Amino acid sequence: MSPVVELKGVTKKFPGVVALRDMAIQIEPGEVHGLIGENGAGKSTLIKVLTGVYQPEEGEIHVDGERRKFASPQDSQNAGIACVYQELNIVRQLSLTDNIFLNQGIKGPGGLLDYKSMDAKATELLASMGIKADVTKQAAIFGMGVLQMVEIARALLKDAKLIIMDEPTSSLGESEVDELMRVVRELRSRGVAILFVSHKLEELFELCDRVTVMRDGEHILTEDIENMDNDKLIRAMVGRSVENQFPKQDNTPGEVAIEFRGVTSVGKIKNVSFTARYGEILGFAGLVGAGRTETMRCIFGDLPVDAGEVLVDGKSVRIRNPRDAVRKGIAYVTEDRKGQGLVLNQSIADNLILSAFRHVTKGGWLSPSKVHEMSAKSIESLRIKTPNADNLAGKLSGGNQQKVVIGKWINSVSNIYLFDEPTRGIDVGAKVEVYNIMNTLASQGKCIIMVSSELPEVLGMSDRVIVMRGGEVMAEINRDDPKFNEDDIMKAAWGERQEQ
Ligand SMILES: Nc1ncnc2c1ncn2[C@@H]1O[C@H](COP(=O)(O)OP(=O)(O)OP(=O)(O)O)[C@@H](O)[C@H]1O
Ligand SMILES: [Mg+2]
Repeated sequence: MSPVVELKGVTKKFPGVVALRDMAIQIEPGEVHGLIGENGAGKSTLIKVLTGVYQPEEGEIHVDGERRKFASPQDSQNAGIACVYQELNIVRQLSLTDNIFLNQGIKGPGGLLDYKSMDAKATELLASMGIKADVTKQAAIFGMGVLQMVEIARALLKDAKLIIMDEPTSSLGESEVDELMRVVRELRSRGVAILFVSHKLEELFELCDRVTVMRDGEHILTEDIENMDNDKLIRAMVGRSVENQFPKQDNTPGEVAIEFRGVTSVGKIKNVSFTARYGEILGFAGLVGAGRTETMRCIFGDLPVDAGEVLVDGKSVRIRNPRDAVRKGIAYVTEDRKGQGLVLNQSIADNLILSAFRHVTKGGWLSPSKVHEMSAKSIESLRIKTPNADNLAGKLSGGNQQKVVIGKWINSVSNIYLFDEPTRGIDVGAKVEVYNIMNTLASQGKCIIMVSSELPEVLGMSDRVIVMRGGEVMAEINRDDPKFNEDDIMKAAWGERQEQ
């Protein structure tokens, strides 16, 4: 039996970067094939070669044993390859049916679209994945989980043999992730092959049959997942062992930096109280939608405080907008790198100094040597993968863009740092660098607040954890409390209020 899809000797270059170098991969029918590698290793580029977005300089693509050339995405689709992108390809104003059929609706006699058949087919496709949804409703009213299923349904409609998923779980909540896993297994049992890209090793172990590791654009290994373990995977990815994934240090909390007293932002958070001290890392745990990001936005002046009181350094304050927050020494490393974090059409260096102008000027003018120094330092400490600081931020790989957002705010030299899902999309090796930076900041006496959906990360790095649910604080747990464990935090996150 020949592989459904095979790449041989593929090389793809960008100015100053060899994104793929003599890369090879074979994907068998009906297997879930994991693809993993550091940020900038070339995973997304490989996908774009498979989907006909990029034409490689060298190498061959084979589908069912036959050599093919993809001059366009259409060629790849026609060959039975589909891709569920991280930024979903959904038109929010259109119905689910229209989204599933995009440009290839069923026509009835007279050439008009036959919506009755289309709705029925769309319903059937979703139902075959165990999803019940009114397909005539606008996509806008559905959550990410359902919309992702709509993309998969679109792939099934075209009889895709290979469905590619590029970090599909990064914007899903826990129950949606479970649902996706179930659907992936269902697809596999029907003989569809899945190429699954993720930075979450647990996910790969749970789901994949085989895994391919790449580094610097090259193939490192392909193995049955059962022959691999965490350490082997990490070593193959980063070329060294990562001894301690969570380099927690002992912190001595100082004065209270931020205090919330019964803060309400209507429709977002309700009666939220907590304190965060200088010199400590305060974690915020909870399910997606629990109100953690909203709490950060209240601190950052991005959501109104309708009731209650916010104190900074013991003084009651009104933070009117993000600019006001920055003036008060607050930095917000956001989870939404494209919305608030990064200017994609500016250079990496410009982004890195965006919040740090006063540190790179000389006599009122921007000093090129200071800009260079600051950006070079960030690129090194965060291991941002680029040949040149003057390259556009938008050309970086996803994870490297996130590192620029982090670097930008660290350079701002603030007193209070809000890290919202800081390591989302970042590879294991670079995560440790981010944790080390948090440690350094804490030991310099900064106040660190970290929102994270990764419980190991919350437990690994926080001195104290606040658990939220439905916009309210459910529990506050100290590191030395016996309740400082996954079980008890999950219980609080799902709704058991704990005595404080
Ligand atoms: N359009 C482009 N122009 C210039 N360089 C690019 C372009 N796309 C990707 N690159 C570079 O190619 C390399 C591989 O990038 P790619 O996006 O494939 O990495 P990745 O493995 O998907 O990383 P991540 O885990 O961060 O998503 C990186 O160095 C990246 O900066
Ligand atoms: Mg990528």
